[in-house]
Amino acid sequence: MSWGPAIYTGGYVGERTLPSFDPSTPAEPRIYNYLLGGKDNFAVDREVAEKLVSKRRYIGRWQYPAIENRRFLERAVRYLMEQGIRQFIDVGCGLPTEKDNVHQIAHAIDPETRVAYVDYDPEVYVHFRTLLDGVPNTVVIRADARSPKDILDHPDLTALIDLSEPVAILLVALLHHIPDEDDPEGVVACFRDAMAPGSHLVISHMTNDGPPPTSAARFEQAFETVRESMTLRPRDRIRSFFGDLELVEPGLVDGGHWHPDEDETPPSNWLVVGVAKKP
Ligand SMILES: C[S@@+](CC[C@H](N)C(=O)[O-])C[C@H]1O[C@@H](n2cnc3c(N)ncnc32)[C@H](O)[C@@H]1O
Repeated sequence: MSWGPAIYTGGYVGERTLPSFDPSTPAEPRIYNYLLGGKDNFAVDREVAEKLVSKRRYIGRWQYPAIENRRFLERAVRYLMEQGIRQFIDVGCGLPTEKDNVHQIAHAIDPETRVAYVDYDPEVYVHFRTLLDGVPNTVVIRADARSPKDILDHPDLTALIDLSEPVAILLVALLHHIPDEDDPEGVVACFRDAMAPGSHLVISHMTNDGPPPTSAARFEQAFETVRESMTLRPRDRIRSFFGDLELVEPGLVDGGHWHPDEDETPPSNWLVVGVAKKP
């Protein structure tokens, strides 16, 4: 292992200062980890997560959009493998799940598939470093998605991913953590521009078009103490993130309606997803 304690601190890498390890402030990767049934979280994270899933505010844990989102991501990766995609950049990858992380799904089909994970969070970085130790054709990079060039030009990324060949860029449950003042449209455009023809863009995003307005407002407020903000957006705006790429069937839909497995749970109404191809 070649890294030391320095990765637990913040640090200036590229254009932005990256967040430090801080167990006293709720953080999105750990909240999401708890919602998916993981153990890599603290009491402060669980407190926020419980607010999000309380029946009073919500419709029950089993339908919670975190699960709907993760299942979408897994189906999207399988779909892209079927389309012949053999390079993935998973931006805002989150803490690893117990199974079915992107490289695990891809390598079960073709071990030559190259997978780059990206997140700005120090714990995510450490967990992926451990998981990927000795796994060929994988890398994890610590960088801020709001500065896409820091990712696309990162030497560890360019050593693995050939951007002149088709790639899938996954922005799954990421963009709702990028507030308007950080120009999410500009961020996505930079990723779209870097993609070769035949590449795919995968987006999932929490929406305020489905839920009642008071619930949507309360959901955003629940993130006030969290390191990441939460910006729910209407479907039209989420559609616009794809620019002039062509949405594959069934288009922009609820997560549970995108190529559902037979045992898919009904959509939560909070999550909009799509996969688009660059002509
Ligand atoms: C909800 S998790 C999504 C994990 C995974 N993509 C999935 O859908 O299962 C969001 C992740 O985005 C990361 N994130 C949020 N803002 C980011 C930014 N500006 N740059 C890089 N990562 C970011 C968080 O650290 C967190 O791990």
